[in-house]
Amino acid sequence: MPAVIAGTGVAAPPNVVTNDDLTRIMDTTDEWIRSRTGVASRRFVDPGTATSDLAAEAARAALADAGVSGDEVDMLVCATMTPDRHNPGIAGSVQHKAGLGDAATFDLRQQCAGFLFGLDLADMLISTGRAGTVVVVGAEVHAGYLPWGDAWQIVLGSTDRAPTAGERALATHHRSWSVLFGDGAGAAVLREQAAATPRSLASPEGILNSVLRTDGAHADLIEVPGLGSQQRPYADAAQITAGLHHPAMNGASLYRLAVETMPAAVCEALEAAGCELDELDLVVAHQANDRILDGARRRLGVDASVMPSNIEHWGNTTAATLPILYHELRQQGRVAAGSLVAFTSFGAGAHWGAVLYREPGGTEAA
Ligand SMILES: CC(C)(COP(=O)(O)OP(=O)(O)OC[C@H]1O[C@@H](n2cnc3c(N)ncnc32)[C@H](O)[C@@H]1OP(=O)(O)O)[C@@H](O)C(=O)NCCC(=O)NCCS
Repeated sequence: MPAVIAGTGVAAPPNVVTNDDLTRIMDTTDEWIRSRTGVASRRFVDPGTATSDLAAEAARAALADAGVSGDEVDMLVCATMTPDRHNPGIAGSVQHKAGLGDAATFDLRQQCAGFLFGLDLADMLISTGRAGTVVVVGAEVHAGYLPWGDAWQIVLGSTDRAPTAGERALATHHRSWSVLFGDGAGAAVLREQAAATPRSLASPEGILNSVLRTDGAHADLIEVPGLGSQQRPYADAAQITAGLHHPAMNGASLYRLAVETMPAAVCEALEAAGCELDELDLVVAHQANDRILDGARRRLGVDASVMPSNIEHWGNTTAATLPILYHELRQQGRVAAGSLVAFTSFGAGAHWGAVLYREPGGTEAA
């Protein structure tokens, strides 16, 4: 039996930072950020809130939405590129904080494509009978690696202090990537179709198929080059001074690859399922940049009503963009029973793909 999404949930951090707020610490403008990325504001957690806290909150909300208790969860899949600490991963902490009993856990490291790979993993676990209920979470706290140090209070407007020349120079040096990102978490509860919608169906529902791809030759297009086993020692002051703990990004190459690969994966998934492009009701795509979404829309020949965006108020929340957007669309009543939905993403590594999904509750068999 394929897996269906029985519930979704989101954790939204409390601190909203607008583009104008960012001008307090770096040389940028609202106009530059909006026109190049589509982002108007993003959210950040308070200090002390870790990725696993946001992930657990989203998981609990998704379980409540599905009407499933924590001890019914067989497995938990957590995708993040901003774990609480170097090791272990966050999944054990999320299991504990969300009250998921002794559910087995996985940590995924596919960055922006993490939730997409998690959906496919959940489907494999459920369709092979290894699990009946799987929670998939995408969660990020990017706040920690933004190069704003003590200037965070300036960004948040909670001090009258002006940034030092050094703080302003550092923030401006990193402005091309730092303006993109925000914190957030989203989760989905996946269950065997029969358990979630006990009805006899005329056409298959749930996850129909997946196309997942990795090309490790592109691993350096966006990376955090320091603080790992390729360094000895893996952490030292020299790496921090050199800024190797911050992401380094080749924005133009990422843009080109994302615009090509996401539509290609959606078309491949549709073809494998015997479906046509014009049968697609919704494309839930990674929210990296509105211009990437525009390029992908043009390639697929769909408009923003089919491939919507919420990057304006969230920024790029990496592994969390798909579940947050999908949750919001469900809440807005834009996900109808029987709809054909394509999830698609592109992430550092490089990892990309598409998961094709038929919403449950479609036409009943005669
Ligand atoms: C990041 C991105 C918006 C940058 O846009 P771009 O047009 O390529 O901009 P560039 O990096 O070439 O910089 C152009 C100019 O804008 C400046 N600039 C960069 N960031 C800026 C900012 N936040 N505010 C103002 N100016 C900025 C640069 O310094 C540069 O100035 P210069 O010409 O005087 O040197 C774009 O490359 C992109 O969206 N790429 C995809 C990134 C992505 O999605 N990453 C996540 C992957 S999962």
